[in-house]
Amino acid sequence: MLEKIRELELLRQTISLGGGQKRIDKHKEKGKLTARERILFLLDPQSFVELDLFMRHRCTDFGMESVEAPGEGVVTGYGTIDGRLVYVSSQDFTVVGGSLGEAHAQKICKVMDMAVRNGAPMISINDSGGARIQEGVDALNGYGNIFYRNTLASGVIPQISVIMGPCAGGAVYSPALTDFVFMTATHSQMFITGPQVIKAVTGEDVTMEDLGGANVHNTTSGVAHFMAATDEDCLTQVRRLVSFLPSNNLSEAPANFSDDPVSRVGERLLELIPAEANRSYDVRELVAEVIDDGDFMEVQPFYAENMVVGFGRLNSRTIGIIANQPKVLAGSLDINASDKAARFIRFCDSFNIPLLTFVDTPGYLPGVNQEYGGIIRHGAKLLYAYSEATVPKLTVIVRKAYGGAYLAMCSRALGADTVIAFPTAEVAVMGPEGAANILFKDFISNAESPAETRREKISEYRQKFANPYVAAARGMVDDIIDPRDTRRVLCNALEANATKREQRPPRKHGNMPL
Ligand code: HXC
Repeated sequence: MLEKIRELELLRQTISLGGGQKRIDKHKEKGKLTARERILFLLDPQSFVELDLFMRHRCTDFGMESVEAPGEGVVTGYGTIDGRLVYVSSQDFTVVGGSLGEAHAQKICKVMDMAVRNGAPMISINDSGGARIQEGVDALNGYGNIFYRNTLASGVIPQISVIMGPCAGGAVYSPALTDFVFMTATHSQMFITGPQVIKAVTGEDVTMEDLGGANVHNTTSGVAHFMAATDEDCLTQVRRLVSFLPSNNLSEAPANFSDDPVSRVGERLLELIPAEANRSYDVRELVAEVIDDGDFMEVQPFYAENMVVGFGRLNSRTIGIIANQPKVLAGSLDINASDKAARFIRFCDSFNIPLLTFVDTPGYLPGVNQEYGGIIRHGAKLLYAYSEATVPKLTVIVRKAYGGAYLAMCSRALGADTVIAFPTAEVAVMGPEGAANILFKDFISNAESPAETRREKISEYRQKFANPYVAAARGMVDDIIDPRDTRRVLCNALEANATKREQRPPRKHGNMPL
């Protein structure tokens, strides 16, 4: 028996070494952790339980009959983060380039199924040359099985993709179907067709990095949500994200007990928010001043920066925050900002995370490019996502809340449960300048002193409508508060709405604009 156990241990050690020391050394020269090291860094110490170490491929084409692929090029199993169960897969680039064949895909599908059955987040670390070319359609089918599971698990368990190497071709669609995509800055790439194919088809010259590196996907395409300098930094960020999330759609997010007093007065808010509507400020400072311990995990911080979204806590409960950013494009809503916020809102609603919205927007961004790009269709996603959400919805109108953008930013009409405004709020159909130009066009042009008359009319409109009192008089705003009391008012509102239940007519699913 002892002899058999020694054999087992030896085999286990050999397989655990993946592609062997030479390949591991080459891998590490690139500044990468191995597949197994990544899992051990991600999970709580001693918590990892590995599955299917002994699985083998059965391909005999193109010399594969003599190719050993230890662990089939992917390490899978489960463990804990802060004591909470998560499932993981981590592709091993040292084994046939981490390529995905039939058995590799089966290993991933098994842990995905277990994650769904047990209601625990699924974290997939990608580092792969894509479909194992020798396995042909079996490899393709493996990807299909993963995509199908990604889709069925959506809204049931949080799914997190971590890109730590190549992720090319159709393989990119698994991360794209998940909730959050992390990328390491120096050694991750995602693209559908690589530089050589692009050169051959369109004649364009582009490097791998410029085509699909972390910077591109975090700033330009919006495919990725987080960027990290190193593998270690990236996995630390994943752990932090998980700390904000519930394990599944039927459980609560973990309460992270904070001793930040609910009634803490936000003196800084008096200086932070300029009274003049055309002066900007950083809305992230406003968010940090209000939430527990200023602990804000921003999602997609480098993409559509005119809209800030991310996780924080109020009175120890996780909340999703959506805020216009006056520092960028004056906080106007455009295509990318609408997409970014809508997707974030839908994630929060799927997982029962209440929404807190800070409004300071002059409206939708004007421009031919925006119209041709489909701002009508994209902007509608924001209206749809807010209207569809049944979690508690709290809205703070900070300054400008004009026109359709006012409505889109979780107005009372879209089902906000609590709407409060600062005295600086301006809730109106459009800005005073634009309104005066339209309403008093003839009056101004016929006046003796048109410039002076225009100024008077703008001032008249501002006095009458550019304030929170008209909306408050109609009950569209519940209260106008001293900004220093924001934290206390929001904590109270969150508690008052914590047991909210909202039923909608049964349907298969709505048809949201895409
Ligand atoms: C089989 C693969 C492989 C693959 C890499 N390898 N990708 N084997 N199938 N898809 C093997 C290599 O032959 C090599 O084996 C080892 O992995 C390491 O690869 P290298 O090329 O030496 O590494 P590197 O120089 O770092 O280059 C990495 C790479 C390159 C850029 C990812 O390997 C590459 O271009 N691979 C092919 C990528 C690709 O076209 N994939 C698309 C497949 S189609 P040895 O034995 O020499 O060490 C696809 C469609 C999915 O994915 C559709 C789903 C719907």
